[in-house]
Amino acid sequence: MSTTSGILKIDNLVMVRGTKAVVHGIKLEVKPGMVTALMGPNGAGKTSTVLGISGVVEPAFGDVWLDGHNVKGLESDEIRRHGIATVPEGHQVLRELTVRENLQVAGGGLSSSALNQAIERVLELFPELKTRLNQAAGDLSGGQQQMVSISQALVVSPRYLLIDELSFGLAPSIVSRLVPVIREIAASGIGVLLIEQFTQLALGLSSHVYVMSRGSVSYDGGPENLKADPDILHRAYFPISDREAVGLA
Ligand SMILES: Nc1ncnc2c1ncn2[C@@H]1O[C@H](COP(=O)(O)OP(=O)(O)O)[C@@H](O)[C@H]1O
Ligand SMILES: [Mg+2]
Repeated sequence: MSTTSGILKIDNLVMVRGTKAVVHGIKLEVKPGMVTALMGPNGAGKTSTVLGISGVVEPAFGDVWLDGHNVKGLESDEIRRHGIATVPEGHQVLRELTVRENLQVAGGGLSSSALNQAIERVLELFPELKTRLNQAAGDLSGGQQQMVSISQALVVSPRYLLIDELSFGLAPSIVSRLVPVIREIAASGIGVLLIEQFTQLALGLSSHVYVMSRGSVSYDGGPENLKADPDILHRAYFPISDREAVGLA
């Protein structure tokens, strides 16, 4: 059934970058209140998938079902209004603007009272931003910028949150700080799609895992099988041809 309500369901998604198909008709489901991990080596097509779901790059083919509506092909702003928010790769904040202004820009369509409430809510998740609201976002540490980036996505009260590379480039202490926040976000009912290079972190947080390699899904199942049989992941990260080249096969 392709129109299951309450689930974000991606069907047969094909993404073309430049002239090359880089995502070959994948299926994914993201359930409310849970973390779903999307793993896989560099170049597997994870970011292209996120850009396709969020409407930043139009999918060449496929459907993005949300509550029985196909939002595929809508503008990214519209998709955001439908309740799918994205934390893009590389904690992209508006560096010249203050933290508060970053949140105001993200919550552009909200009334000022709704925006203030939303800002209060994100400050409960990230109290360390409270004293930095009037600082230029570009002056914050990478970890704090990632908190601003997550907050920007949360300001619009999304039902689904797509996080592209949660921990990339961040110190381990910051990553440990973010883990309980991701749990809390999911516990509040939001369906989280977590793209994460640090496999132990992703497996620890998620109820369901997709592994992508070379534009296709090579594993679709619970994290426990991947914990029990690490070779499944190794095969995705180091395909046989590469394993032979480095003497692993
Ligand atoms: N703007 C682009 N133009 C052309 N090719 C791209 C572009 N962005 C990504 N690609 C290619 O698409 C493939 C998938 O990349 P990406 O979706 O970024 O993978 P991942 O996020 O898993 O590392 C790679 O081969 C990459 O080189
Ligand atoms: Mg990527």
